[in-house]
Amino acid sequence: MSPSRDHGPVIDIVAGARPNFMKIAPIIRAIEVRQRAGSALRWRLVHTGQHYDARMSADFFDQLNIPKPDVNLEVGSGTQAEQTAAIMVRYEQLLIRQRSALCLVVGDVTSTMACAIVAQKLCIPVAHVEAGIRSGDWTMPEEINRMVTDAITNWFFTTSDVANDNLRRAGVSDERIFFVGNTMIDTLLANLPRLKAPPFWGDAGLQPGRYFVMTMHRPANVDTAHGFAAVLEAIGDGVRGMTVVFPVHPRTAKTLAALGNLPKNLLLVDPQPYLEFNYLVKYAKAVITDSGGVTEETTVMGVPCITMRNTTERPETVTMGTNELIGTDPVRLKPALDRLIDGRWKTGTIPPLWDGHTGERIVERLERLLAPPVASA
Ligand code: UD1
Repeated sequence: MSPSRDHGPVIDIVAGARPNFMKIAPIIRAIEVRQRAGSALRWRLVHTGQHYDARMSADFFDQLNIPKPDVNLEVGSGTQAEQTAAIMVRYEQLLIRQRSALCLVVGDVTSTMACAIVAQKLCIPVAHVEAGIRSGDWTMPEEINRMVTDAITNWFFTTSDVANDNLRRAGVSDERIFFVGNTMIDTLLANLPRLKAPPFWGDAGLQPGRYFVMTMHRPANVDTAHGFAAVLEAIGDGVRGMTVVFPVHPRTAKTLAALGNLPKNLLLVDPQPYLEFNYLVKYAKAVITDSGGVTEETTVMGVPCITMRNTTERPETVTMGTNELIGTDPVRLKPALDRLIDGRWKTGTIPPLWDGHTGERIVERLERLLAPPVASA
């Protein structure tokens, strides 16, 4: 728990999976700054344990200087329903033992949705950071998580005007929508000077602008060995002999284990810590991915990004940034790679309010929202 100089309201900050950790770090830092200025706001950091490998979790806490969680619900792996149920049961037990004044959830992972439901049912208000984004693709568990979370959120912190409009269309009134920018980008900008080459950089002969980075973990792309083999082959062939650095997500590792020969220029590595991963991205020729968050980071770093998905919940990475959606059919890779390698990729701009100060804006707003009502005379 954060230092209790006072008996101010306690905010539960919930994080469960890798893409959550970079989103909570700036919020915690901003609360600490406010506390030093005399604020009574406090937090309790709740890790659900959805991601538990050091490389998917603890490494991020260390590198991003996130305090040790106050509580770890240790739910571990499971089906969507098993994980959701385990998180709900354990978070409810925690809140019954020790209530908080607000449940703050970030992003769109299973932990986000599960904790929001539990809190709201106990009449604890919910704030959702990165609210309102929609891919429209109901086959993605993340889309269900976003819709359910936003249906029961009190205060919506958003990254874009498109998200604001999505929420308005769903009937959310303007006074509950706060367009604050992107906390993931706060973390990126704060850490740009600290990025560092991974240990294999020299041995692999990597040179700026002369290699690709690839990440792939969505069920649609990696859950069948046959389909995933075709993707890998198209990438291996399409990059004209350049190395493709591929940090392998645990889910993807299971499929890879069943594949035979892989392209020779594919460099399989473990999931990378934050500073090393973004170093690789910053100096890459381009990134090939099916992640959402990576498309935001490449947009801010001005690195070309090929996304193997049909939809995105982050359209500004395409309309303003360096990202392009090519769908999931591997035949689409070669033409995209040709255009890129021949220097015909677009350049981009950085979306509004992705400026490194989103955490501060969120915490200022929360202070006002949680301030005790002024007694009338
Ligand atoms: C989750 C998020 C996704 C996010 C991704 C980033 C949901 C619905 N999805 O997907 O939005 O982009 O994280 O990583 O919440 N595993 C490990 N070690 C770990 C974590 C997972 O081995 O530390 C294994 C699990 O056993 C499982 C697989 O990886 O077999 C998938 O993990 P899971 O948390 O279910 O979902 P992700 O695919 O990681």
